[in-house]
Amino acid sequence: MNQEEAQKKIEELRKAINYHNYRYYVLDSPEISDAEYDRLFDQLVELESKFPHLITPDSPTQRVGAPPLEKFGTVRHSLHMLSLGKALTEEEFLDFHRRVKEIGGVSDGQIEYVVEPKFDGLAVELIYRQGVYVLGSTRGDGFVGEDVTLNLKTIKSIPLRLLSEDIPSLIEVRGEVIMNRSDFEALNRRREEEGEPLFANPRNAAAGSVRQLDSKVTASRPLNMFAYGVGLMEGKSLRTHYQVMEYLKELGFRVNEYTKLLRTTSDVVQYYHQMLELREKLDYDMDGIVIKVNDFSLQRKLGELQRSPRWAVAWKFPAQQKTTQVKDIIVNVGRTGALTPVALLEPVEVGGVTVSRATLHNEDELKKKDVRIGDTVIVQRAGDVIPEVVAVVKSQRTGREREFVMPDHCPICGAKAVRLEGEAVTRCTGISCPAQLKENIFHFASKAGMDIDGLGYKIIEQLVDKGLISDPADLYFLTKGDMLKLERMGDKLAQNILDAIARSRRPPLSKLIFSLGIRNVGEHMASVLAHEFGSIDNIRRASRERLEEVREIGPVVAESIYAFFQDPKNVEVLDKLKKGGVTFGEERRVLHTPLEGKTFVLTGGLSSMTRAQAKERIEMLGGRVSSSVSRKTDFVVVGENPGSKLEEARKLGVRTIDEEEFKTMLSNYE
Ligand code: IVH
Repeated sequence: MNQEEAQKKIEELRKAINYHNYRYYVLDSPEISDAEYDRLFDQLVELESKFPHLITPDSPTQRVGAPPLEKFGTVRHSLHMLSLGKALTEEEFLDFHRRVKEIGGVSDGQIEYVVEPKFDGLAVELIYRQGVYVLGSTRGDGFVGEDVTLNLKTIKSIPLRLLSEDIPSLIEVRGEVIMNRSDFEALNRRREEEGEPLFANPRNAAAGSVRQLDSKVTASRPLNMFAYGVGLMEGKSLRTHYQVMEYLKELGFRVNEYTKLLRTTSDVVQYYHQMLELREKLDYDMDGIVIKVNDFSLQRKLGELQRSPRWAVAWKFPAQQKTTQVKDIIVNVGRTGALTPVALLEPVEVGGVTVSRATLHNEDELKKKDVRIGDTVIVQRAGDVIPEVVAVVKSQRTGREREFVMPDHCPICGAKAVRLEGEAVTRCTGISCPAQLKENIFHFASKAGMDIDGLGYKIIEQLVDKGLISDPADLYFLTKGDMLKLERMGDKLAQNILDAIARSRRPPLSKLIFSLGIRNVGEHMASVLAHEFGSIDNIRRASRERLEEVREIGPVVAESIYAFFQDPKNVEVLDKLKKGGVTFGEERRVLHTPLEGKTFVLTGGLSSMTRAQAKERIEMLGGRVSSSVSRKTDFVVVGENPGSKLEEARKLGVRTIDEEEFKTMLSNYE
């Protein structure tokens, strides 16, 4: 096939794939089988890999996720993304209607409202120029949001190219990214198995997935978007909100099926009650309905208040509550040794999510609510919070309920548990409490800490229980033999984890500080310390007074940092970390740099590391990574589905190496 034929075929395939994608993800009514779809997709992948220079950013193959970012850029919205005024009762909705009439100078029969669900997710804006998706951002504070272009690109119900023939030269589409409840539960089940922290609700899961620096993570999450409005639009003019919604559908967006045009307030009231009933049956969360004046000229006349328009209102649903039984009250031991009482519940569906445990926060909370084992309680799931026990149904008490007593010993290690005066929490005092230890190591290895990929809670738990590690530093002395002692641990997984541990030996200083779990030192404080002191040893030598000289450090924080470095047990762990090869300062380059002066170009995807990790490892060894191939390039690392750089390299006679060779090269020097 020559280039011209390939180009034609590629375009045909893209068009077909986009269309079937739309049938499947937007209309929910596919015309072809999954196998047929896969066949089309595979054909496109194959053609694009033969003609890599024909790959365009809007090709359906480009939804897979791009290399991780260091941080998000910011986007200033051309039109302020407003929020909505609230109504909690029918009265308040009617007040809104009255204001529309008064300020708009219209009477009852003249107002049309568009009603739609109020989705509980993350608000985003997508910009299309000449029909092509070019920029995606979060709402942020309404004026400035984060640039999440690459992440949103992985969501299949977002078109990369607008479908209709009648495309505007510019359109800013606004909507909500959500995660279906069934997908949320499946995701959490998987995370639980892997020992990863759970998401509290679908909204947090959706927001957390969009705000990922690594878009491959976003690509792996089941997300959806409902379009509910536009910002700027050029090259097309419409008169009403309802027309906009119809137009968005035509362009290939998913518009919610319960979007309706209504003419009277009693219709709106009826719609509210219908949706309230539907709420539990739908697979996505909504926390109310949104009522918008349909006519744009009336919208303009009504104008805006500070942050919300006078032409729209969110009529919220009440928080969802259910009654259930407390089967038991257990105590959870956290990283700082805090003992948290947790109610184990007879599982109930609250707003579509199964709730089987609820935090009781601390002893005082528990006493105030007087929750007893065997009690019938009201549990609540309100929009964005973790399920909680609202109150006990005292009329249902039988007298057989048992009062819970906060233990005076740690349920895990048996050490004394104490509650200091003036504090609400009871803490375990055991210095080698395995519960604290596991939480500590989990924190140490977390993404914001040493970022040891694949070292989840389940694995840490086994390592501790089998006595293979008794502090975070022990991780750096683990052998393959140790790893293979764990259940369900194969050679490959063991090697991957050991590789990840090895890679974490040269952390950015701020991450190392954060990972130590010093009381009152979060991510921000850790970077302040890194910036100010430049190495662990300098912080270790600092007096309380010296610490307090730092602008953002007050006496409490200074004391906890100082105390941490005075504790002989911590000093021992720090020394062991050093022995294990962990670097303690910002000087991240090794002295003899074997790749000094060598230039690398990366093309295609690597299976064992991201592009950013590859770059980091090359640079750590003194090499340089360049984005284009020239005669000066020493090596082109060729991953899967390489781009045109491979051809370039061949043309210029530059040496190419595959992933295996590349890894061997790195491990020879690391
Ligand atoms: S319209 C003035 N429509 O609610 C127009 N917003 O409080 C404001 N939201 O951050 C947006 N469902 O995330 C609109 N059908 C809907 C919505 C909706 C959910 C969210 C949106 C925004 C917040 C505004």
